[in-house]
Amino acid sequence: MKPNILVTRRLPSAAMALLEENFEIECSPHNRALTREELLSSVRCKEGLLSLLTDNIDPGVMDAAGSRLKMIANYAVGYNNIDVDAATARRIAVSNTPDVLTDTTADLTMALLLAVARRIVESDVYTKAGKYQGWDPLLFLGSDVHHKTLGLLGFGRVALAVAKRAAGFDMNILYYDTQRADPEMEKQVEATYVDQETLLRQSDFLSIHAPLTPNTVGLIGSENLSLMKPTAFIINTARGEIIQEEALVKALQEKGIAGVGLDVFEHEPAIHPAFTEMNNVVILPHVGSATMETRTKMGLMAAENLISAFKGQVPPNCLNPEVFGNI
Ligand code: DGY
Repeated sequence: MKPNILVTRRLPSAAMALLEENFEIECSPHNRALTREELLSSVRCKEGLLSLLTDNIDPGVMDAAGSRLKMIANYAVGYNNIDVDAATARRIAVSNTPDVLTDTTADLTMALLLAVARRIVESDVYTKAGKYQGWDPLLFLGSDVHHKTLGLLGFGRVALAVAKRAAGFDMNILYYDTQRADPEMEKQVEATYVDQETLLRQSDFLSIHAPLTPNTVGLIGSENLSLMKPTAFIINTARGEIIQEEALVKALQEKGIAGVGLDVFEHEPAIHPAFTEMNNVVILPHVGSATMETRTKMGLMAAENLISAFKGQVPPNCLNPEVFGNI
């Protein structure tokens, strides 16, 4: 008998095929996130769970599954949607999908940065609307990116990949993290470690790459925004809850900062109505890792993690390996 697992939403076909080969699958028939009630009822008696970042996997879900639940494979590098401590206490293994999406997310971060600085979206809308009447010295003047200061809030894998790209634009790279990085890592991109206040004060582009933790929820609020240059831009491809959106809207309205590029939102999927009305705001529907190649790799990685666990091996991307010995 193959172990039975719940897949909370359809994944790219190569990943589905690998899962089907190895497991009895129940896959949500809906093209949307499961409701809480649907999640609680479909997880019942499952041995494995393949979850998405839109699924809140709390103790209630784990208990609804029952004692047979051995493994939760999250289809994301971020795992703030899973109570890992509660899983560990129940001896349920948890995994994520690091590395495979690093470059793809870094590409999108640069795309957002360039889009907002060079007013790409506005220019595209204008041109498609047939408004272009010929070259104009003052048409859609934006901000230079090259030789500007990029501030990285958080200096993990994606931040490093963004820094490599930014080095190609001759950007000056600053970073702040709770711990200073290895000198080798700094040297790769000539990044300078600064304190958080210096980062906020000196960045022309502040790019957020911190994980969502109790310490980073709401980190960018009115006080921190007031430290930034009025010509600065913020890019967020990490987690929306790191920015207090009311404070951000106020800073934009009062011209405390120049613009933002957001792939993630504080109350996702709800979008603050003010964002849809401002030309200096570029918003995307959380597509940082959204390429066919990368989403397929994430699915294969999540499937491989489940396969290893049910073979009794510690999955390659296990977040709580201490639970092993029990599967
Ligand atoms: C993640 O993996 O955490 C991203 O937000 C989605 O790919």
